[in-house]
This record gives sequence, structure tokens and C-alpha cells, in this order.
Amino acid sequence: MYRTHTCGELNIKSVGINVALSGWVQRSRDLGGMTFIDLRDRYGITQLVFNMDTNATLCEKARKLGREFVIQAEGAVAERSNKNLKIPTGDIEIIVQKVEVLNASEVPPFTIENDTDGGEELRMKYRYLDLRRTIIKESLELRHKMAQEVRNYLGSKNFIDIETPMLIKSTPEGARDFLVPSRMNHGQFYALPQSPQTFKQLLMIAGYDRYFQIVKCFRDEDFRADRQPEFTQIDCEMAFVEQEDILNVFEGLIKDLLLKIKGIEFDGPFPRLSYNEAMEKYGNDKPDIRFGMCIKELSGLVKGKGFNVFDSVEYIGGICANGCADYSRKQLDALTDFVRRPQIGAKGMVYVKYNTDGTFKSSVDKFYDENELKKWTGHLEAKPGDLLLVLAGDKSGTLNALGELRLEMGNMLNLGNKDVFAPLWVLDFPLLEWDEETKRFYAKHHPFTSPRPKDISLLDKDPAAVRANAYDMVINGVEVGGGSIRIHDRHLQQKMFKVLGFTNEEAEEQFGFLMNAFRYGAPPHGGIAFGFDRLVALFAGHESIRDVIAFPKNNSGRDVMIDSPATISNEILKELSIKIESQKK
Ligand code: AMO
Repeated sequence: MYRTHTCGELNIKSVGINVALSGWVQRSRDLGGMTFIDLRDRYGITQLVFNMDTNATLCEKARKLGREFVIQAEGAVAERSNKNLKIPTGDIEIIVQKVEVLNASEVPPFTIENDTDGGEELRMKYRYLDLRRTIIKESLELRHKMAQEVRNYLGSKNFIDIETPMLIKSTPEGARDFLVPSRMNHGQFYALPQSPQTFKQLLMIAGYDRYFQIVKCFRDEDFRADRQPEFTQIDCEMAFVEQEDILNVFEGLIKDLLLKIKGIEFDGPFPRLSYNEAMEKYGNDKPDIRFGMCIKELSGLVKGKGFNVFDSVEYIGGICANGCADYSRKQLDALTDFVRRPQIGAKGMVYVKYNTDGTFKSSVDKFYDENELKKWTGHLEAKPGDLLLVLAGDKSGTLNALGELRLEMGNMLNLGNKDVFAPLWVLDFPLLEWDEETKRFYAKHHPFTSPRPKDISLLDKDPAAVRANAYDMVINGVEVGGGSIRIHDRHLQQKMFKVLGFTNEEAEEQFGFLMNAFRYGAPPHGGIAFGFDRLVALFAGHESIRDVIAFPKNNSGRDVMIDSPATISNEILKELSIKIESQKK
């Protein structure tokens, strides 16, 4: 028997019993007469003691055990004189009578500690060592617990878990597909699913009125901290529902997770914001509402006073940063540089300091006197000691830049407490988005999203004005989930494809199976998918979803541990009739 107990379960009540433990050598300390080894497994750390006076040979053997050796130790549990209050096994130690090396280890390339000395790339290469660190282990345990709870909750609401295929035909969700060549079907490719969207709709048509799946999805898109090319969704669909039914069930899911996993009881319904409100108040369709600092339009107050920068633009808006009137020139310059970054795109920034003594100092003193500035501060509800930051330009770009500035200030002022969870629903998204480059509309969510019934008549006249029966759930500025009520009427779906610029033939070629299914009694239905990695990262307090995925990809989409993607031998390429062209410069 390798072990009678784990390294995390012995305590003062175990004193006197003989045990066998197996695990990894976390660290060893040689104090001359005594050698101490911290033995680690998934469950914790237990101290092993070897005494030179009572067993010199054993002690010599212990001194040779290096970091990360796998060993088995047998001995008696004893009370420690020097207790370690930080760990659950800190009251006891094992007086070792026998030790065996189960496997030696080379010196690991970085320390297996929470505060490791290994850089990210190195840890990714040796991910199996990185996974030994407690901080990552705890994230994966949390992930498991959350998955269990999701299953419990959805199971209790009659949802059933149904698997959908991984080798499919591409579903248009806005990203590129990963493709898999088919050997048996010359020149043809499967696509890996960007989501099980069409399959879950087919399941509704098949009568499985409550479906869910914790499922891998694949998207060939650019990387960010909250994006991976393969990620996991909690994918759900329901039949015979309206938007309100879906919001209730899935608000319930998030409340259940907050309670069961974090012990947080969330009173009352989640706040709801329309897409337009979110954009106008937060400059963002995934607002972080843990703090205020909302955007307010100033156009009416500031135009027509001879300041050309303001007079010549569509929109002027500002935010009020509490207690920042004492910002130095250098700090204000840094903020100006921030909003001028190409990805943010503002031309410049105007500030107004509402000093604690009640006076004003602004970067536009030449154009606006104290009385005028007082109106601005009044409109933004500033108090003495506050700082106004004002941007101007076209409406959507300026709102976006103000949104970024608000988040930057929120970060600098530490307003986003990781232990606070501020969920909300964002509703009434536009159904379509116009793309200037290709001169056509794209579906903001996906082509199966239903327009709001009131707006259907606008589809022909004014497609840009049509709002979708769609909803996103946002927590602390992270879009954790999104979904919609679907189109279940064949003719409306046809019309939607037409608005999206598909010819009848293209629509038939890509979605014939769905359109056909709509002929056979498609019930009204809708659903949602949560980004499971994002939810777990939020609950774990991690910035990046990489920290909650066992084997993630790096920023260039590579798995540096297994060295993938990789080239394929000519033989296999030949079998697939694929020829690789040399890369064009
Ligand atoms: P959507 O594309 O909004 O909707 O995706 C749902 C949720 O999945 C998460 N997510 C991601 N997480 C990590 N890496 C990625 N690359 C990534 N892309 C998306 C987000 C997002 O909110 N079929 C629809 C859902 C539906 O309509 O029911 C869909 O996939 O948290």
C-alpha cells in the first residue's frame, strides 16, 4: 500500500498512529542532527522528520532526497513542538521509520511555489510542473466544483446534457473556423464548432425542450487575456420560452453559483441596461458597474462659446474622478497619452480641476470662465476635490474612448474590488451591424437571432434600427454569457439571410438543413451560452482565463509543451491531397 492517508489530512487527533504517505519532496532542511522534509500531494503538505541520533542511515538517505523526488514514507504521527499555524497539518509531523524513493526527479526548471521564479513561457513549456503549484491546483478544483454545481442546478431544472458533434460544417459566429481535412471525402473539410448553435436549435425542433452541455468551442480569432482558440461554454437552449423566462432561469444559475461557491447571497433581480444606455453611460456594452464615474454628455453646455475643438464635433462628454483634483501635470499628461493611443483614438483631453478651496483650474480657461466651468461640474455632480476629464469627437468613438478612460481611472483608483460581484443584463442590442469596408450588414450575435417582434417591420425599411431579442450577461466588466430568442419561422429566417447579403443558393448551401427542419414544426425557442473559463477566472480572481485552463495555448496560439501546431509529413499530406505553398513574403 503506497499510502494510508493523504498529505493534507493528518492532525492533532492522529498523534500516535502509524501511517504511510506518498508524495513529492517540496523542500528539505538539513539542521545537522535533524532533517526535515515537506512532503506534498494534491491535498496538502506534511512534515517528515529524520533524526541523526536515532537512525543515522535513514537520515543520510533523507539528506539525498532532492526537490520533486517522489517518495513513500512510513512512520508515527507526533505532535510538533514548533507548530505551523498556516497549514491544516501544522500541529503534527511524521517521525519517519522507513523511506523509499519511488522515482527521482531532475531539478525542476522553476520553483514549485505560488511565487515561483519561472516566467510564463517556461512554465507553459513545463505545464505539468506548473500544475503542481497550489494556486493553479486550486483554480482547477474550483473549476470542477463549478462544473458540478452547474450540472446540479440545470439538472434540477429538467435540463439534459446532450453531446453534439465536433466535426461539423462551419457555423457562422463571426470568427474564422478551424478546419479538419477529410481523408475519405477528397478535397472536403470539416469545421470544428465555434459553438453548438445550430445543433441545439435542432434539438429543440426534436422536442428536447431543455438542453445543456459543458462543451469545447473553437474559434480562430485574435488573442486577448479572456480569449483562447479553444474554450469551454455552458451551452443551453430552451423551447416554449420568451426572453423573460430565459433571464429568470439563468439569473438563477449565476445566483446559485455565487451562493454555493462564493457564499454570496445576491438580493433582488440583476440590474438591466439597454445596449444604448450601456454605451451612453459606460461607453461599453459590457460595463463594469462595481463603480460609478458614469459618462455624461456635455455638448449642450459647452458648444457655442468660441472653442473650435468643441464647436466642430458631434459629441462632447466627460467623467468625474472623485478626489483627483490634485493630479499633477505629469499625471494629466499620462492620461492624455493614454486616450491618444491609436486603439483608443481620442485627439486630446480637456480637464477641469474643482479644487478643494472651491476654485477651478482647467485646460480651457481661455474659453470658459468660472461660471461656465461651474455648470460643467454641476452637470457631472462633482464636489470640491474632484477632477473632470472631457473628450470630444464623433459620438461612438468618443463614448468608446471615455469608456476606456473610465476603466483606466477605475484601475488607478482601485475601484474594482475582486471580491465584489456586480452582474447585470445588457438587453436590446442592435440586430445588425453595418460594415463600411464590405458595405454590408453583419449579424451582431448570429444570423439565428430573432428581431424584437415590434421591430420586424423595420427589417426592410431601416435594418440598422432593428433591435434584437438578445441579451448578454456581464459581471465586473466581463461578458460572461450571451444569447437570444431565435427565429423559428422559416420565412423570417429567409428574410434575415437576405438582409445579411446571402443569395438563396448560398443560404440553401450553408443552412439548408436548418431551413428544412423549420418545415417540420419548430417550436419557439431561445438560449444562452456562458463562457465557462471566464466565469471560473472571475470566481477565482484571476485576470487571464489561461490560469483556469489545465493546458492553455500561449499568445500566438501555440501549445509550447507539446509544440503544436506542427508540420505534417509529406505522406500524410499526400493522402489528404493537400499541398503546402511556401509562405509568401
Ligand atoms: P457567444 O459568441 O457570445 O455566443 O459566446 C458565448 C460566450 O462564450 C464566451 N467566449 C469565449 N471565451 C473564451 N475564449 C473565446 N475565444 C470566447 N468566445 C466567446 C463569452 C461569450 O459570452 N452560440 C452563441 C450563444 C447563444 O446564442 O446561445 C454563442 O456562442 O463569455
